[in-house]
Amino acid sequence: MNNLKRPRALRAGAVRKMGVLLAAAACIGGATLAWSHGDVTPQAVDTSALGSLGKDWKPENPYRGNASAIKIGTSAYNQNCARCHGIEAISGGIAPDLRKIDNDCAALKDAAKKTACVKEMDDYFLTTVRHGRTRNGAVYMPPFEGTMSQEAIWSIKAYLETRRDKPM
Ligand code: HEC
Repeated sequence: MNNLKRPRALRAGAVRKMGVLLAAAACIGGATLAWSHGDVTPQAVDTSALGSLGKDWKPENPYRGNASAIKIGTSAYNQNCARCHGIEAISGGIAPDLRKIDNDCAALKDAAKKTACVKEMDDYFLTTVRHGRTRNGAVYMPPFEGTMSQEAIWSIKAYLETRRDKPM
C-alpha cells in the first residue's frame, strides 16, 4: 500500500486525474509484459564522478543545474524511466509526463512560495522514486530504493529540471 498524497497545490483536477488513472491502467499491462521479458530490472547507475552525499536522504535536490549530474541523470533516466515516462521525458500516455511535475510551482509569483513549492515537489519526487507505486497489489511503478543511490535519483531530477514544460 502506498497512499502517497500529492502536495496540495499540485493535486490535479478531475480531468487530469482521470488521465493518470487511465495511463496507469494501460501501464499495468505494459509492465507485466515487460517484467516477463526481464527488461524492467532497475539498472545501477555509476555516480562516482559526483562523490557521495552521505547516507541521509537530502530533503531537496542538491544537484540543480549541476552539469555532470545532469549528464548522469540523462542516461539514468533513459535506462530506468523512459520505457514508461517516455523518451526525453515526453510521455506517450503510459505514465505521467514528468516535464510537468513542477508546473504548479512555476505558476507561483511569490519567490518564497515558489522555493517552498519546488522543495515540496523534490520530496514528492524522491518518495515516489524510492518506493514506487503499488495500489491494490498492482505495481504501477517499481521501487528504486536499493538499486539506485540518492546521487542517482537526484541526478535524474536535475535532468528532468532541464526538460521542464514551464520555466521556473
Ligand atoms: C513500469 C513503468 C514505470 C517506470 C519504469 C517508472 N515509472 Fe514513474 N510512474 C509510473 C506510473 C504508472 C505512475 C503513476 C502512478 C499512479 O498513478 O499512482 C508513475 C508516477 C511517477 C511520478 C509521480 C508523477 C506525478 O505527476 O504525480 C514520478 C515523479 C515518477 N513516476 C518518476 C519516475 C522516475 C524518475 C522513474 C525512473 C527512475 C520512473 N518513474 C520509472 C510508471 C513507471
